[in-house]
Order: sequence, then C-alpha cells, then structure tokens
Amino acid sequence: MLRLAKISDAPEILQTRIAAIRAQASLHYPAAEIEDWCSSRTAETYHTAIERKIVLVEDVNESVVAFGQLNPETAFIEAVYVSPPHSRQGIGLKILRALEAMAARRGITALTLEASLNAVEFYRRAGYVPVLEEKHPPTPKTSSATLRMRHEIRSRAARVFTENLRE
Ligand SMILES: CC(C)(COP(=O)(O)OP(=O)(O)OC[C@H]1O[C@@H](n2cnc3c(N)ncnc32)[C@H](O)[C@@H]1OP(=O)(O)O)[C@@H](O)C(=O)NCCC(=O)NCCS
Repeated sequence: MLRLAKISDAPEILQTRIAAIRAQASLHYPAAEIEDWCSSRTAETYHTAIERKIVLVEDVNESVVAFGQLNPETAFIEAVYVSPPHSRQGIGLKILRALEAMAARRGITALTLEASLNAVEFYRRAGYVPVLEEKHPPTPKTSSATLRMRHEIRSRAARVFTENLRE
C-alpha cells in the first residue's frame, strides 16, 4: 500500500535507503563513495523531510519496503529507493508516478532530479531526459557523478495515481 510517511517510519526509510544503495549502486561507484552515500542521511533527516516535504512509502505488511521524496518548493524529486527484495516489481515507478501526481496537483508542470548512474535507465524509461551532466568532487551528501534529468508532467497523472492516496 502506498501512503504518506509518518515520523515513526524514519528508521525503516533509512534502512531501505542503505540497502538499496548497497545493492543497486555498488557496481557504479567506488566503495568509499557508496559508504559516504549511505551515511549521508540519518533518521532525523527524514523527520524533517516528512514534516516539510512530500514523502511516500510503500508499506507491505506494516513494513516500509520503498520510499520516495518530492520537494514541492523546488519541483525536485529528491529520492526514490526500493529495498532489494522488492526491486523490479514496479514499485519504484509507482512511487515516482504518485510523486508526479502530487506535484501536478500543486500546479507543478516539470520535475527535475539528480539521477545516480545506476538509476538513469529507470528514470529514462519513466520519461525523464538528461539536461546536464554534472561531475563534482565527492561530498558526504552526494556521489561523484550524477545526471540531471527532467520530465514534463501531465495533470492526467494526478487522477490516475492519487485515486487511493489520502493526503
Ligand atoms: C532505481 C530504483 C528506485 C528502481 O526501483 P524499482 O522498483 O526496482 O524499479 P521498477 O520495477 O519500477 O522499474 C521500472 C522500469 O525501470 C527500468 N529499470 C529499473 N531498474 C533498472 C535497472 N537497474 N537497470 C535497467 N533498467 C531498470 C526497467 O525498464 C523497469 O521495467 P522492467 O522491470 O519491466 O524492465 C531502485 O533500483 C533503487 O532503489 N536503486 C537504488 C537507489 C537509487 O539509486 N535511487 C535513485 C536515486 S537518484
């Protein structure tokens, strides 16, 4: 079930993020960068995000198995992470479309994101196109190479993907 995140979800959101990075990104980045990426968020980071932004979780048997985060002020998709046992089942795309729908309901017409290299094909298949390749030194908050991508969103998505989602 897709739902808005609660503060109490923060520890599971963090664990989902770490597991997804280690499983999906390790072939694309050096080990040190993977560990920097994993440790660049805390549960408290998500308390703030849940209060101030839009954070959705996929809940299976009362456990968080995936999440996504939209900053509606900047029209930026800040995260989509799916735990490894649940990958390639359409959950990431479902979360992405739901975030797009919620953005559309707020009048946003285009979304931008910074795709890690392992996720470029996922976003490309979802309709996102590269706008600028950015390479910069590794920092605790980001990996060394990402691809900025952008997608025009349609209001139709809002009707389709938020039918069962309570805000
Ligand atoms: C990227 C990620 C969110 C995808 O989630 P997912 O639930 O596995 O993706 P979906 O099942 O919704 O995939 C939809 C389509 O995207 C494409 N896709 C997804 N993952 C892919 C991959 N690793 N390689 C190539 N194509 C991929 C496929 O076309 C897929 O359809 P298919 O399975 O029928 O072929 C997930 O792999 C993840 O959490 N990665 C680590 C964290 C991360 O990098 N997040 C993005 C930060 S920018």
